[in-house]
Order: sequence, then C-alpha cells, then structure tokens
Amino acid sequence: MSGATAPDPVRRLYEATPFPSLGDVETREAGLRSMLANCFGVDPASLQGATLLDAGCGTGEYSAAWRRIVGERGRVVGLDLSMSSLVRARRLGEGHGQWVEGSVLAPPVRGPFDVVWSSGVLHHTGRPHEGARALSALVRPGGHLIVGLYHPWGRWRLRWARASLRMLHRSGTKAYREGARAWLRAFRPDWTSQAMEAHVIDQFEHVRESHHTVRELRGWMDAASWEWLGVSPLVTRRGKPGWLRALRADATLGRVEGYMFRVAWRRRG
Ligand SMILES: C[S@@+](CC[C@H](N)C(=O)[O-])C[C@H]1O[C@@H](n2cnc3c(N)ncnc32)[C@H](O)[C@@H]1O
Repeated sequence: MSGATAPDPVRRLYEATPFPSLGDVETREAGLRSMLANCFGVDPASLQGATLLDAGCGTGEYSAAWRRIVGERGRVVGLDLSMSSLVRARRLGEGHGQWVEGSVLAPPVRGPFDVVWSSGVLHHTGRPHEGARALSALVRPGGHLIVGLYHPWGRWRLRWARASLRMLHRSGTKAYREGARAWLRAFRPDWTSQAMEAHVIDQFEHVRESHHTVRELRGWMDAASWEWLGVSPLVTRRGKPGWLRALRADATLGRVEGYMFRVAWRRRG
C-alpha cells in the first residue's frame, strides 16, 4: 500500500467506519456474473486471466468476488482513499490482490486494465464525471468500464426515512442513530454491529453524495471511443419490462435503476 492524499471528509468518514464490512463474497460473485451476462452481454468466462481495478474498493468484497471471476491468472488491484478499508480488503483477499491508497480523481495506478470497476464511489467525490474520465483513461482498448451510482428514484425509501428521522432528531445524536439502526434492522436483521454501523453512517450521515440518471451517464463517454453496453439491474415482470417503466422519467431504456444502478461501456479499438 502506498501514497498519501489530502484530508477529506469522505476519507475521514470511511476511515472511521469502513464500508460495507459484510464479507458476503459469494453473493456478490453471483450478482456480478449475472450482471455481466444478462445486462452487459459479457460472458464472465471471457474475463478469465483479466486485470481489473476496483476503484473505491472499500472493505474488498467486490475485489474478492472479481478475483474469483478473473481466476488465478488474473490480477485485481484495489484502490481506496481509506487505509482502514484497505487493511480489511487485504485481509479478505487472503494474500491475493494489490492494495493502493489514493483517489479515483487522480488514480495513482498504472494501467491499462481489462476492466475498471467503480461501484458506489463516484457519487461521493463531488466530481463524478471527472472521476469517470480519470478511470476511463486506465481501460485498455477492447476493455470495460463499469460504474455504479445512486439514482434519485432508487433511494427514495431511504431518503424518506432520513428526512423523517431528521424531523425528530438531530443527525449524529444517539436517538438519531438508534432510529437509523432500527430502520436498517427491519430490512437486515442479520447484520453484525460493525456492518450496521458502517451502513448507518454511509446511508444516514453521509457528508457528500450525488444522484444520477441513466440518461446523464449516456453522455459521459464519447460514443466514437466508447460502446454503451447497457444498464443493470434490468427490471422485468414475468420476463417483460415492469410497470415501473411507465412511471419513471428516465424510461427510454426500458429499465429501472434500483438502490444503485450500474452502467458499462466497452472501449473501442
Ligand atoms: C460506499 S463505499 C463502496 C465500497 C465498495 N465499492 C462496495 O461497493 O462495496 C465507498 C468507498 O469509496 C471510497 N472513496 C470515496 N471517495 C473516494 C475517492 N475519491 N477515491 C477513492 N476512493 C474513494 C470510500 O473510502 C469507500 O471505501
């Protein structure tokens, strides 16, 4: 691990509460395989031996899941602002992987990579498009850039809960945090206290987050250099586009963004 970055409130937040601290590698691997095949038309087997950058890897659950996909011959590099997250990611990686401290806005890593993956990160930077462009420079021709972001609709339930709690208690107080825990516990009674604290801070007390639409992201990359591969998740009902399609402002793609949506491009060349 190497490098040093300027003080940043986001860094401080994840230094204190590394996210997600869940260790759920199997479920993430299954999700990634399904996302690649069903949403982006990429056969996961074609990524055997690939090099991959997990930009904003947190505690490394996705890094470990990607490692299973790229296999023994592949290589995964995890990059994050938070050293305490990288320490956990390295532990979860059981000796595999390379861990680098630094920012996705000026990644201190050398490319090119076959895949650059950044999920749940750019919307905490304040400059997500700039971050995506910095990451895209690390993708080799024919390689993939996959970015996961919050959609304004996908988080409505959480934002409603947050707003309601803030009417009752000041953010950061004991009562506010207890309310946040109670809300999260209703959905995830199985979480450890460490995972619960990471999610309370990440979801109820974040210092910086932005929301994005698929339409906006379609304009992020130059179409002459980047082929748009699609959006995950695909929301369907009995195999047909779901009723939510009709409701959403961003319906042109026949898909709906969930809690987080991901988009992928392939670099032409
Ligand atoms: C919500 S967590 C997501 C972790 C992981 N990608 C996942 O999906 O499980 C956000 C992570 O991005 C990192 N992060 C935030 N801003 C960053 C930046 N500018 N450069 C690198 N990492 C950053 C945080 O330290 C944190 O570990």
